[in-house]
Parts: sequence; structure tokens; C-alpha cells
Amino acid sequence: MKKSLLITALLAVAGLAQAQQRTAFEPGKVWPDNKGTHLNAHGAGVLYDKGRYYLFGEHKIVGPKGNSAQVGVHCYSSKDLYNWTDEGIALAVAPAGSGSEIEQGSIIERPKVVFNKQTGKYVMWFHLELKGKGYAAARTAVAVSDKATGPFRYVRSYRPGAGQWPLGFNPEWKKPVPNEASLKGWTPEWKKAVAEGLFVRRDFEPGQMARDMTIFVDDDGKAYNIHSSEENLTLHVAELTADYQGFTGRWNTIAPAGHNEAPAICKRGGKYYLITSGCTGWAPNAARSFVASSIWGPWQQLDNPATGPDADSTYHSQSTYLLPVAGRKDAFIFMADRWTPKNPIDGGYIWLPLRFEGDQPRLQWADRWNLSAFDAAGAKRGVNP
Ligand code: DGJ
Repeated sequence: MKKSLLITALLAVAGLAQAQQRTAFEPGKVWPDNKGTHLNAHGAGVLYDKGRYYLFGEHKIVGPKGNSAQVGVHCYSSKDLYNWTDEGIALAVAPAGSGSEIEQGSIIERPKVVFNKQTGKYVMWFHLELKGKGYAAARTAVAVSDKATGPFRYVRSYRPGAGQWPLGFNPEWKKPVPNEASLKGWTPEWKKAVAEGLFVRRDFEPGQMARDMTIFVDDDGKAYNIHSSEENLTLHVAELTADYQGFTGRWNTIAPAGHNEAPAICKRGGKYYLITSGCTGWAPNAARSFVASSIWGPWQQLDNPATGPDADSTYHSQSTYLLPVAGRKDAFIFMADRWTPKNPIDGGYIWLPLRFEGDQPRLQWADRWNLSAFDAAGAKRGVNP
């Protein structure tokens, strides 16, 4: 009797678990993991490895203190992108007072993990701000692991491009403009000076600032760190070394003086597509998009990819990653954050299918959608399943 009761109970639990299997994305809604807890992976990126997706993001806590790193980088895994298993903390902060660059209270944002085939290591990059220094340090940092889920071991942080001019930098721009120190911010003259290397020159020796970032691995295995630099005025793309743990010194600017954050990149039909946001802190703004035939540029600016109601705030969100769907050619999911800085743990996730009209990436809001949106029929009937 007891045994049959147990079996019934187990079947009921299994049935419940079955019923809770998710079959669609519901942008902006609470997204429970396998334990029923809202995903805690903000500013996230995804690694696809041996048939499984791994989601890595900033672990936030309750209250405004949660805008700094109190715990570390959280990892989840999934077979289908809808249902995520909690894999725990992949990179843990060092204890407060330890003097580590990643001690509790530092800022760890936008972690992105890639696998290096040559070393067999998983490499995590993130935006790092040193404890107590606000956003002044503007560094990009690297950690490595033998397993996708971690634990990742902190390696070091960088200001990229130290002592290196961007590729194709006009030699005339290497010398300061006579009146550059007295130029008033945000005037056309100042913007021109920024586009002609004002901050590149300033940071030539210590290395360039690196805030919001993403990592991109190209078809030839070369990897790049794309980050907001020059006081967030210009994006930089910097080539990583063969082990993906440092920089080769080859780098270039993207959209000089364009004031872009939140870079997210994908490659389709041999072209590179970049989606970014403007710079309004935690508040959302209209996304931007760019296309290039080479990662080194020239990059052509396109339109706001978002369409329909709330396009001007990117549906109240900010880009973080363009996720290639495994096994589906040219299928990418636009991943974005709805930040809630007063209580960061509440932050929501906006995942939408990315479409293309010629070269123009396009987004359309959907309350609920699934991967069939990428099938020809799905594309025709709109994204709702
Ligand atoms: C916007 C950035 O995109 C976020 O990652 C974060 O750095 C906030 N700014 C901080 O205000």
C-alpha cells in the first residue's frame, strides 16, 4: 500500500514536471528555471556546446546593492532554449576585502563564454569595474574553465589596444588638435574631434576603455572582443589571441562618436550584423543596427531594427546577445534585458526572433512564440504559435 502511494506521488510529481515543460518563449514574463525560480542571468550570452545551450549572465540580488557583483556569474543549461536547468555559479566573486579585482562589490557585467578548440578551454570575458570606482576603470576581463559550467578561474583584466593605433588610423590624427582641450562637449567640433581620435590619443598608453561588450568567434576560429570605448562614444573591435585569453593588438573603431552600448553581433551570408543601443544608463532607448562585409569595417549604419508599438524603447529593453539557433540556418534570437535597477533581481528578458529585410535586421513584438517562427510557414503567419 505504502509502495503504491509512493508510486502515485512520484507519478504526480513527474506529471507536474511534465505539465511545467515550456514550449514557447514569453518575452517579459517571469521565466522559471527547473526549480521554479526566475532565471537570474542578466546581460547574458549563450554558448552552444555538444548539443546543449549554456546561458551565462550576471547574478543579481534583491535591492540596489545588486547592481554590483555580490555573487558572480550564473549558468543555466538547456536542450531546447525554453527549459533551463540551474547549473549554479560559474564564476564566483572573490571575498570582500581580498583585494582581488573581482572581489564582492566590484561590477561584473555582460559575461560571454566561448570554447577554444586549440586549448580545449572554455573562456569567459566580461566587463569589469573595480570596487568603489564606479564605472571609471572600464576594463574587460577573462576567466577560464575546463568545463562549460565552471568553475571558471579568474585570469586577468585588460585595457585593450595599449600602444597600438586602430587599423587604418589616419596618421594625421596621431597628433593632438591644437585647441582640443578647450572644445565644449557635444558640439559638432567636439564630435568631429572624437571621431578623429581625441580619446584614442588620450588612452593610447594605458589602453582603451572597455565597457559593454560581447565576444564573437568567426568561421575561421578567430575571436573578437567588441566593446564600448572612448567614454562610450565609440565601439572598438579587438582581435583575441589564438587561445582567446588576450589581445593581438589588431583593433579598429566602429561608428566613431556614435555613442553606442550593448553590442550584439551575428554573421549571416558572409556579412556581419551588429545591434546596439544608445547610452541612457539603465533606461531603455531605440536600438540601432549596422552591417559590414568585414569585421574591421566599414560599418554601415541601418535603422532601428525594432518595429511596431514600443519600438522607440526596443520594447523597454536593451540588447545583450544575438543567439544562433543550432541546426537552423540564419536563425538568430535577439536577446535583451529589461533592467530594474531598484531591484535588479526582478530584471526581465526579451527574446524575439530576428528577421532580415534585405540587409536590415527586423524585430517584431510577440507575446508568445516558438522556434517554428523560423520555419518558412512560421515566418509567413507571424511569430505567434
Ligand atoms: C547600460 C549598460 O548597457 C549596462 O550594462 C550597465 O552598464 C548600465 N548602463 C549601467 O548604468
